[in-house]
Amino acid sequence: MLKKMSALLLAVVMLCTCLTACSSSGATLSAVKKSGKLVIATSPDFPPFENLENGEVVGIEIDILNQVADKIGVELVIEQMDFDSVIPGIQAGKFNVGVSGITVTEERKKNVDFSDTYFLASQAIVVTPDSAITGKADLTGKKISVQTGTTAEDYCMGEGYEVLAFTANNDAAAALTSGKADAWVVDNEVAVALAAEQGLVVLDEAMTSEPYAFAFPKGSETLVTEFNKIISEMIADGTIKGIFDQYGVLYVSP
Ligand code: ARG
Repeated sequence: MLKKMSALLLAVVMLCTCLTACSSSGATLSAVKKSGKLVIATSPDFPPFENLENGEVVGIEIDILNQVADKIGVELVIEQMDFDSVIPGIQAGKFNVGVSGITVTEERKKNVDFSDTYFLASQAIVVTPDSAITGKADLTGKKISVQTGTTAEDYCMGEGYEVLAFTANNDAAAALTSGKADAWVVDNEVAVALAAEQGLVVLDEAMTSEPYAFAFPKGSETLVTEFNKIISEMIADGTIKGIFDQYGVLYVSP
């Protein structure tokens, strides 16, 4: 009797472990090819990586993904959403790839799989031209705007700053221009692209190291392998650098 019960218990435990650990929602490379579509999730408020131009999503990562989709032989389908929906959507298997200037973190690795990294960014501080803030040391006790769900938010919370989080990146920028925030923390190349447009100043201090990669639902191994192969070829033959050049951005390999 006792033996039977412990066998049953073991079976239940094994089933539970499998339900959590074996849950995979990713598509295989052959399933993507069969469907004829590669569906990406993106938050197009992040120039020069992805932004809207006359209602169309454009940018460095969109150019990269168009070429990847071409090489796989499928159509690129772009789904737009706020950044804080991208990783949860990938985790739930609603899309094939998250393409959003996504920084690889240990925490995110628990929920999604990543391609190899293809670029190295950092967090930068953006201020108004008249600001007394000249570096990270001046941020203590200041109100800092960030985009919700980003590594900028994590970093600023970790540093104990007073954080104002906005789902749209543009609203985080607007908080600074309207004087609600004293500084805006955002990825460096995005800081440069948006600060220029809005007469803001980017401070020359890299606060973090942010390797970018593409995110996939767990269980997308064959698709990730294909991506890694294509991306490494595109890095080796200078295609990726060429795309960065077109946007006037210095290519920094991770
Ligand atoms: N690199 C940062 C992160 O992974 C910010 C990404 C924000 N992306 C965007 N498309 N708004 O959290």
